[in-house]
Amino acid sequence: MNLQIIVGSTRVGRRSLQFSKWIEKTAKENKNLNVELVDLIDYDLPMFNEPVSPRYNPDRKLEGDVKKFLEKLAKGDAYVFVTPEYNHSLSGVLKNALDYIAYELDKKPAAVATHGSVGGARAAEHLKMILSECRAVIVPINLHFNHFIDSNIDEEGNLIKDLKELAYGPHTTVNTMLEELTWYGQALKTAREQ
Ligand SMILES: Cc1cc2nc3c(=O)[nH]c(=O)nc-3n(C[C@H](O)[C@H](O)[C@H](O)COP(=O)(O)O)c2cc1C
Repeated sequence: MNLQIIVGSTRVGRRSLQFSKWIEKTAKENKNLNVELVDLIDYDLPMFNEPVSPRYNPDRKLEGDVKKFLEKLAKGDAYVFVTPEYNHSLSGVLKNALDYIAYELDKKPAAVATHGSVGGARAAEHLKMILSECRAVIVPINLHFNHFIDSNIDEEGNLIKDLKELAYGPHTTVNTMLEELTWYGQALKTAREQ
């Protein structure tokens, strides 16, 4: 099963990358998962300006990085969408990327992983609504990280020992979220193939 972790910040000095790497590293402990970081910084997506909503445009012709991005997303069976909270919502760069989606997320599970002063809670609620409109299946457990990233996750994505050992802390939540995604990912993949 292909699990994609979408890195939803492209800002210079972004903290979302090490946060995403921690999720990636944790997910890779499950050898049944084929885990991949999909970093929006690798795709030059212009501001969405197509004349018709992608889902309702039979004449849509994909080119360049938009094509590359959507073909990549289509290969996923389950997703973690990572975003910081900017002005009480998700990042603009992630919202723009999501506006390109037509059928790529249909009947596939998605979790949101957010960070910010209140764990990115407000961004998470917006992001879940948007993903639902993109026809993804939102899993019940999502991750809200309200600790300072720099002092708690290193550049390689290692969570500090104290948080790893904290009962009901982020280490527990990330694992529960990944278990849920794996369960729904396998169930929905089987159902789609049937
Ligand atoms: C434009 C902007 C708006 C922000 N708005 C919020 C906010 O509404 N709530 C919050 O908790 N943090 C807010 N922050 C703080 C970010 O969540 C924090 O800087 C985080 O590290 C940004 O993620 P990034 O480093 O991956 O870009 C904001 C930061 C920026 C740059």
